[in-house]
Amino acid sequence: MDFNLSEEHEAVQFAARDFAQNVLSAGIIERDNDQKFDKALIKKMGDLGFLSMMVKPEYGGGGMDTISYVIAMEEISKVDASAAVIMSVNNSLVCWGIQAYGTDEQKEKYLTRLSSGDEIGAFCLSEPEAGSDATSQHTTAEDMGDHYLLNGTKNWITNGNSSGICLVIAQTHPEKGHKGINVLIVEKGSPGFTVGRKEDKMGIRASDTHTLMFTDVKVPKENRIGEDGFGFKFAMTVLNGGRIGIAAQALGIAAGAFELSLKYAQERKTFGKPISDHQAIQFKLAEMATRIEAARLLVYKAARLKDLGKDYIQAAAMAKLFASDVAMWVTTEAVQVHGGYGYVKEYHVERMMRDAKITQIYEGTSEIQKLVIARELLK
Ligand code: CAA
Repeated sequence: MDFNLSEEHEAVQFAARDFAQNVLSAGIIERDNDQKFDKALIKKMGDLGFLSMMVKPEYGGGGMDTISYVIAMEEISKVDASAAVIMSVNNSLVCWGIQAYGTDEQKEKYLTRLSSGDEIGAFCLSEPEAGSDATSQHTTAEDMGDHYLLNGTKNWITNGNSSGICLVIAQTHPEKGHKGINVLIVEKGSPGFTVGRKEDKMGIRASDTHTLMFTDVKVPKENRIGEDGFGFKFAMTVLNGGRIGIAAQALGIAAGAFELSLKYAQERKTFGKPISDHQAIQFKLAEMATRIEAARLLVYKAARLKDLGKDYIQAAAMAKLFASDVAMWVTTEAVQVHGGYGYVKEYHVERMMRDAKITQIYEGTSEIQKLVIARELLK
């Protein structure tokens, strides 16, 4: 077992760190305040290859492994968790899903566009009454022979307004339950497809989260991914990989808050000495660093299993469960280390604490991760 990063992985880390610290960091407080999705920044991420890291080079991607992806996710999330979720959804849910299960035509048509950063993707599973209970799909895709007629509403969709290409999960054969569900590639601009309200969120405010509505949207049959009825299995499978991305996001948020705390603790003086000389602060820093290291090992393990083609369902769920709790705990402690300064926006850690919370909720809540882990243990 080798705990060192390869030269290639170090290069990815360097590039992602450089981009995050020198480009993404500028204007981060304003983007959070104004809920501003910055199209130009996301395009830059695409130009640098961060939006399609695992996509094969023939479709414009980086052809990299999952370890590279989580390394980049960590570095981006240290600075800007909003950019990180945009990156995560595009890489692990949309691009990876099309690459793994799409036809050659679908890959050619959509992956090249998704890799460039000109367009980003959205993954549309959740509904007003189908969050954790994802099999309970009310959106319907009626089989009309050469096309599907799509009707329904999707909620809390990351990249909802900014995406051009959406993977929409919908029920075609209600009598078959989850085995009657399909996944369709739906393009923005299709007649009957409207973008609804933007959510005013606690965190990851520079990513756009919207309700999407579909009224008699005609979707060509060739836009279905996989066999008839494969949609739910598709959603679950891409979410297994997605959870590694979100675990890496949580890890990055925690690591970013820790780095700021470490620096602040050596600069800020109380009672005539830096607060890092006080044991109360030292213990906090020690525990933060230990939990972050443990989270990183779980994230890398899940990514490595995926790269080896081994089963990673349980590892991904464990990584997300643990790393998201670490993110919440570390960011809360980071605010505490910063004291009054931690409670104001200028010092960043309050944003990180708000950003951390969503990692315990999306791509399967912590409770769902426990359910997934328990089911794997009891198989
Ligand atoms: N991997 C692969 N297949 C899985 C799976 C997994 N992790 N979990 C379930 N399945 C399969 C099962 O094997 C079963 O298939 P078969 O019938 O062929 O065997 C099928 O899916 C149905 O599974 P269950 O019978 O276990 O269904 P359930 O209703 O009891 O439980 C669930 C399903 C695990 C709770 C699932 O609904 C779930 O994961 N819910 C959470 C949904 C979620 O993560 N939503 C995130 C929204 S997307 C998002 O957040 C993106 C974003 O914008 C950031």
